[in-house]
Amino acid sequence: MSSRKSVVSIFLIATCAMAITVSAETRTKVQKTSFGKTDGHEVFLYTLKNTHGMEVSITNYGATVVAIKVADKKGKIEDVALGYDNVDGYVSDKSYFGVTAGRYANRIAKATFSLDGKTYHIPANDGENALHGGKVGFNKRIWEEKDVPGKNAVQMTYTSPDGEEGFPGNLKVSVTFTLTDNNELRFDYLATTDKDTVLNLTNHSYFNLEGQGKGEILPTKLTIHASRMTPVDSTLIPTGELKPVKGTPFDFTTEHTIGERINQPDEQLKLGRGYDHNFVIDRTKPGLVETAEAYDSKSGRVLEVLTDQPGVQFYTGNFLDGTSHGKGGNNYPHRTGFCLETQHFPDSPNHPKFPTTELKPGQKFMSTTVYRFSAK
Ligand code: GLA
Repeated sequence: MSSRKSVVSIFLIATCAMAITVSAETRTKVQKTSFGKTDGHEVFLYTLKNTHGMEVSITNYGATVVAIKVADKKGKIEDVALGYDNVDGYVSDKSYFGVTAGRYANRIAKATFSLDGKTYHIPANDGENALHGGKVGFNKRIWEEKDVPGKNAVQMTYTSPDGEEGFPGNLKVSVTFTLTDNNELRFDYLATTDKDTVLNLTNHSYFNLEGQGKGEILPTKLTIHASRMTPVDSTLIPTGELKPVKGTPFDFTTEHTIGERINQPDEQLKLGRGYDHNFVIDRTKPGLVETAEAYDSKSGRVLEVLTDQPGVQFYTGNFLDGTSHGKGGNNYPHRTGFCLETQHFPDSPNHPKFPTTELKPGQKFMSTTVYRFSAK
C-alpha cells in the first residue's frame, strides 16, 4: 500500500472509531431522576433506553425494576411490568414487584438452616418459614448505584453485613442491569463473602405482556423447558422430590395458556392456589439456556427468559388481591401478573441433594439472566 493510501485509510479508521464512540456515548446516557425519599434518604430512578424505543427503569431502592416499556406488534409502546409510581409504594409493598430478592430468594423451611455444623435462624415472615431473605430482605435496602462505562447499563451494589437477617458473612453483591439493542434486559449478578454462607438471588418482576393493569394473565401462552418440578407441602416448601411434569397441569414443555389448567383439581395447584412452583430447567449445556417463553397473542409481545440457574419459580400472582396502589392508579387484582423467577431451588440449604447454594470465601458467585422481548 502506498503511504498516501495508508494515511487515507488511517484517517477513515479514526473517523469511524470516533463515530462509534459518539454513538456509544449517546446510548450510555442514563437518565437519573428522583424517586422520592425514605427514612430521610433520597432514592433515584435510572432509565435506560435503546435504539428500538425500549425503556427500562430501575430504582436503587431494592435494586428494583420499576418499568419495562416495549413495543407490541404494531409498534405501540406499553409498560409490561407491575410496580409503583414512587418509592413509597415499594416501602409498603408485600408483593415484591420487580425487586432483587435476597440474601436467600424464595423459602427456607422453618426459617432455619445448618451450615458447617452451626444452626442459623432467619426472622420468619411467611408463616413459620423465611421468604425472600427474611423480614428486611435485599428488596427493602438502599443500594448504591455505579456507572458502567461504555455500556448501556447501571450497576447496583450492596454489602450485607455479617449477621444481617441471621445470615453469616459480610456479603458483597452487585447486580448489573443492561439494556441491549436486541431488546434484552440482562441481569449480571456477582457476590463474594468473607465467611461460608448461603445465597439465592433473583429478579421478581411481574409481567403482563398486554400492559400492566390490563387484566388477567390467564390467556398468555407459556412454554417452560422443564420436564420436572419440585412439588411442595402445604407451606410451599419442597418435599425434596423432582417430579416429572408429564401428564400433569405442570407440563409446559409444549405451549399452553397459563389459564388452561390452572383450576384443575390438582393437589399441587391447590397447595399453590395456582402456579407457585419451582421448575427444574432442562439443561443440555452449562451457561445461559432458553428457559421459558411467554406470548400474548393480543399484543403480539413475546418474552423469552434465558438463565444459567438450575430453576425457575413460575408464580401466577395468586396472592394479588386488587389492593396494591400500583402505577397509574392500577390496583392489580388476582392473577394480573406472572413471574418467572430464575433461581436455585427453594429451601436448598435444607436439601443436600439439591444443587448447592453455599458460597465460601475466595469463591465468586456469578450468574446471568436475560429477559428478551420481541413481537410477532
Ligand atoms: C414468590 C413466592 C410466592 C409469593 C411471591 C410474592 O413468588 O413463591 O408464594 O410469596 O413470591 O408475593
